[in-house]
Amino acid sequence: MTTEEEIKRRRTFAIIAHPDAGKTTLTEKLLLFGGAIQIAGAVKSNKIKKTTASDFLEIERQRGISVSTSVMAFEFKGKEVNILDTPGHEDFAEDTYRTLTAVDSVIMVIDCVKGVEPQTRKLLEVCRMRKTPVIVFVNKMDREGRDAFDLMDELEKELKIKVRPLSWPIGIGKSFKGVYNVYEKSLNLFTGDEKQTIADSVEIKKLNQEVLEEYLSEDFSKQLLEDIEVVETVYPEFKSEDYLKGDICPVFFGSAVNNFGVRELLNCFVDIAPYPLKRETEERIVDPFEPKFSGFIFKIFANIDPRHRDRIAFLRICSGKFERNKYYFHNREKKEVRFSNPTAFLAQSKSVIDEAYPGDIVGLYDSGNFKIGDTLSEGEILHFKGIPSFSPELFRYVVNMDPMKSKQLQKGLEQLTDEGVAQLFTKKQDGRKILGTVGALQFEVLQHRLKSEYNASCGFEQIQLHKACWIASDDKKELDNFMQDRANHIAYDKEGRPVFLAESAWLLQMAQEKFPKVQFFFKSEF
Ligand code: G4P
Repeated sequence: MTTEEEIKRRRTFAIIAHPDAGKTTLTEKLLLFGGAIQIAGAVKSNKIKKTTASDFLEIERQRGISVSTSVMAFEFKGKEVNILDTPGHEDFAEDTYRTLTAVDSVIMVIDCVKGVEPQTRKLLEVCRMRKTPVIVFVNKMDREGRDAFDLMDELEKELKIKVRPLSWPIGIGKSFKGVYNVYEKSLNLFTGDEKQTIADSVEIKKLNQEVLEEYLSEDFSKQLLEDIEVVETVYPEFKSEDYLKGDICPVFFGSAVNNFGVRELLNCFVDIAPYPLKRETEERIVDPFEPKFSGFIFKIFANIDPRHRDRIAFLRICSGKFERNKYYFHNREKKEVRFSNPTAFLAQSKSVIDEAYPGDIVGLYDSGNFKIGDTLSEGEILHFKGIPSFSPELFRYVVNMDPMKSKQLQKGLEQLTDEGVAQLFTKKQDGRKILGTVGALQFEVLQHRLKSEYNASCGFEQIQLHKACWIASDDKKELDNFMQDRANHIAYDKEGRPVFLAESAWLLQMAQEKFPKVQFFFKSEF
């Protein structure tokens, strides 16, 4: 197979959902239909129902520190499908945002009873920002959920997207009969039998009452005909270009736990989902078909086993061919590096690979050389865009509880923040260190890992902060003035960029009004 053919058959995506909507179940069912696993229950949930650090770490340990489920690859209908796992706990939302930088499309799961939930909203905002193509899967149709048209309205209104149903439910909850698949023009009837692996599917080229009544009662047939007529008139015709541009989201209905609607979703997904797309860098646009290799690190996983300090850095390949034992240029460290054991993730197992193509995710064993966002290339300097840090929501001062171990604490903080567990800021005036996170659980995880992996004792002191925003200005003097004026509220991030620590929304607004030439950013990429 040529490199071009290899690239065109890649489908790299993530499943996103509000916790409990059915992401784990759908992932597992996709793997089952894809033939990557043989039995249900093989994919462990990464839901963390209890919220202490030790519970979190224990769950991580039990499921092999998520490394094996971070990427799940399988082949389906000649396509190479890569599913990237995202954390189930909302405190780790930033990890999910970063994973989304490494995918080409997304499947979003919605619970038909609950509709749009907070986490769905946030995640979709990230997709919209990047124009990532999204397919929606409305799950749990076996439950008494909302009316399908109401749900479509809610999706459009709440998520500010345009939808296009490619399947339509017949009844819901107890009276759920199945779906009509608009994309494949087939009728799929629901038997409610969990053990069945393939649902019945009847091809119906032309919908009419007579044909439908062979399979459904008169009432349901009538309702379906009416609904489909409305669907065809209210929603725009499905064009894959619109979906690929991120302008329209195709919608499927089903019940993941009952295996229902999953195969149709997968069939359509491999058909319409994009192969690796062009990617923006600060320097230029990188095309996946370019002969020279390039890629970036979007995730770093530490081995939680304290006896091994090894980490795995996840590389997303963006262009060219990646080869084992070949020297590549580590852009930030300005050195040539090579990898003798690059790893691919085939569902549950890992294997060393000799080559990989754009769209593939490769695990690289790392002893601390990588940071999130690092680029590898064949010599060219490239900074891939879309891997920003977001302004954290919770802040604490770092307190060293064991002065004899300050080196260990420093090293631990550096490395763990390189992994993206939290963000580290250093105050301009007194050099005090501040950690910023999205969720409270991360502070506990940090404390726990600093102790067990670095033997450092870290305490925290409360700090009342509303936001940390990156600041810049075309007028250097004005920026200097601002930093002078608010000296006590300026810190630097790990890259040495200045950050304004705003104690309240009001103080931030005051600063913006007083210094109109200074720009305030809520993410590190601007
Ligand atoms: P998540 O990863 O998005 O957090 O959700 P997960 O797949 O773990 O599913 C959350 C719960 O919803 C699970 O029940 C799961 O069995 C259930 N579920 C998933 N799909 C469907 C569906 O189509 N219909 C119905 N009725 N339920 C569904 P649980 O009780 O939390 O866990 P479990 O003990 O069943 O595993």
